[in-house]
Amino acid sequence: MASESGTPPTKQQPLTEHEVDAYTSPYSTSDFVKYATDGGLVFAPIDSTSSNLAVLDSATGDGHWLGDLARKLKIGAKLVGADIASQNFIEPEQLPANISLIEDNILDPWPVQYQEHFDLVHQRLVLMVCDDGKSVTAIQDLFATVKPGGWIQLHDGDMDTIEDGEGHRAMEKLRTILRSPGPKLKGWLEDAGAHDVQEKVLTTKCGKKSENYEQGEQTPNFLFSMEEMAELTFDLARELREAGNSYHTYVVWGRKSL
Ligand SMILES: C[S@@+](CC[C@H](N)C(=O)[O-])C[C@H]1O[C@@H](n2cnc3c(N)ncnc32)[C@H](O)[C@@H]1O
Repeated sequence: MASESGTPPTKQQPLTEHEVDAYTSPYSTSDFVKYATDGGLVFAPIDSTSSNLAVLDSATGDGHWLGDLARKLKIGAKLVGADIASQNFIEPEQLPANISLIEDNILDPWPVQYQEHFDLVHQRLVLMVCDDGKSVTAIQDLFATVKPGGWIQLHDGDMDTIEDGEGHRAMEKLRTILRSPGPKLKGWLEDAGAHDVQEKVLTTKCGKKSENYEQGEQTPNFLFSMEEMAELTFDLARELREAGNSYHTYVVWGRKSL
């Protein structure tokens, strides 16, 4: 992170606790990935001029992605964010009024009122913590919330594409914990019944490899808040500052037939 004088810390300076916190903030993923998508939020060809779009963001994190999307949609759009960790939600008064955030587990079926309800359903960077069987069921359940004619967009990572070797040991360790659902998303979505499924592979850079230092601070936090992960958290923060890394993420989108 930038020091108070605005210059990034050098390799020689030890990481402060504050810097480790910055690298592991639960609020960080949106900005981090935004660079890989070149600022783009929705790849699916929805009609963003429609004044009554309904959008669901599953595993929304703090609700950032929806906040960004709300600024691009008409005021009448209704946006719902769902996450298992509601303690990370942005305070409602800091979000546009047309966004609501609910606690929900992607491994449970969605509430009845959300079945075939949304014009666009989005889910990003959560299946890396699920085994394949759970991912398949979660995608089927999520697809059930898409309106006939609506779109689903999934975006997840491929840890098999990280840079490894000397200087990347903490990321290598992380690779043993996280899964690589990215390349499987397209097939899973087609199996769930989606049509016109398309795929885009992005390179997501983190830490020193980032396009700019501000973005370099933004590093996804999956399990690092757990106590037993403290050491890896610290090592990862240091390694990303000193070496950085990159990996592929896959964005896949498809349509439910009318
Ligand atoms: C890496 S963050 C991604 C946040 C957001 N989608 C983004 O891309 O900025 C992963 C999110 O998945 C959520 N999550 C993990 N397991 C979940 C589950 N079973 N059900 C719902 N959300 C879950 C976490 O709480 C966290 O907010």
